[in-house]
Amino acid sequence: MDNMDIEKIRKDFPILSKKINGNTLIYLDNAATSQKPSAVIDGIKYFYENINANPIRSIHGLAEEATKAYNDARQKVAAFINADPEEVVFVRNATEAINLVSFAFPFKEGDRVSTTYLEHHSNLLPWLRLKEKGINVDIVSISDDYELDMDYYKQLPKNTRLVAVTHASNVTGTINDVKEITRVSHEQGSLVLIDAAQSIPHMPFDVKDIGADFIAFSGHKMLAPFGIGVLYIKKEIAENLKPFLTGGEMIKDVSLSKVIYENIPNLFEAGTQNIEGAYGMGLAIDYLNDIGMENIEKYENELTSYLYEKSKELKNVDIYSGKSKRFNGIFSFNVVGLHSHDTAYLLDKKGIAVRSGFHCAQPLIEDRLKLDGAARASLYFYNTKEEIDTFINELNDIAGKYGRR
Ligand SMILES: Cc1ncc(COP(=O)(O)O)c(C=O)c1O
Repeated sequence: MDNMDIEKIRKDFPILSKKINGNTLIYLDNAATSQKPSAVIDGIKYFYENINANPIRSIHGLAEEATKAYNDARQKVAAFINADPEEVVFVRNATEAINLVSFAFPFKEGDRVSTTYLEHHSNLLPWLRLKEKGINVDIVSISDDYELDMDYYKQLPKNTRLVAVTHASNVTGTINDVKEITRVSHEQGSLVLIDAAQSIPHMPFDVKDIGADFIAFSGHKMLAPFGIGVLYIKKEIAENLKPFLTGGEMIKDVSLSKVIYENIPNLFEAGTQNIEGAYGMGLAIDYLNDIGMENIEKYENELTSYLYEKSKELKNVDIYSGKSKRFNGIFSFNVVGLHSHDTAYLLDKKGIAVRSGFHCAQPLIEDRLKLDGAARASLYFYNTKEEIDTFINELNDIAGKYGRR
């Protein structure tokens, strides 16, 4: 892992030396959003000082530079996930990507869509809303080890048109076998959407290998700015989709009596897009590629094992992640007897940033895990074993003072 020079990597992220309540920040809220390297931060400034114009529309030189920057960013994203550039639609985030599919998919009354208990609200609510249009929604259950019921996928209910599933859970850390889910769902005639918001930032990802039809992810969880995300659409299925938003640059020809729409990706990019965001996402991908996604995955797996090993030292702490066959660097927990917000507050006093609450997965946390919230530490490749040591020590201290059995 030559490229995993952590000390050097950490210097690329200016915020990691910030002091919080007198302590150097230990940022363990990476599942919520990642920090940004100077290459991205400075790149945004460069964009506005050198490239800024509205791409595609105007033909002057600066606009052509902006168009090139936008197209280059699309190509970088496509290469990163092994897609073709026209299969990459820029959106605001994973949430918008999934909502887009819920509007664009040609559902008919009586059709079925499935999602799961493991989902973030963004892969749940767009489907639940379809009930208003007479679409049936199935929720796939999970075991006590946070594994999806894979038998469900072997025999999908009749009329299932779309199977929506997360690649990695933002609460339990479960990494699902989305390749297998895609394979068996396709055999039964259903298309597949994967929420890859918690996987693409952390591992090599190949859309052709997985074979799914839609893949949603957010730039901000993988070093890019806020407000830029991606919906991958497999080109073979694109022609059956209906436009989502209508307006500028998503049409080939317009008269008051007839509109001819563009093909993907333009079909789903109505109006002026977040060009700066796309440019920043291209730079983020350059940065990730320089380190290498295999290296990132390997290092994060090492950190995750270390964290779970160290967690054995904890007393009066319940853990709700890391039980599935495959899991990522997410560690969900509660100090017994303490609300997760109080735990997060006490950790913050020591400069340790963790998330608390429902994690936008309330049915999972409240209905399935029977909790009124959980605290969550989540890792990225700039975290260190020393940070994990400090986190575990401080957590043990809090649990010792406030926890009860
Ligand atoms: C698994 C998962 N899916 C989707 C999302 C939504 O991402 P965004 O808020 O960027 O749309 C998140 C965010 O935490 C997530 O963890």
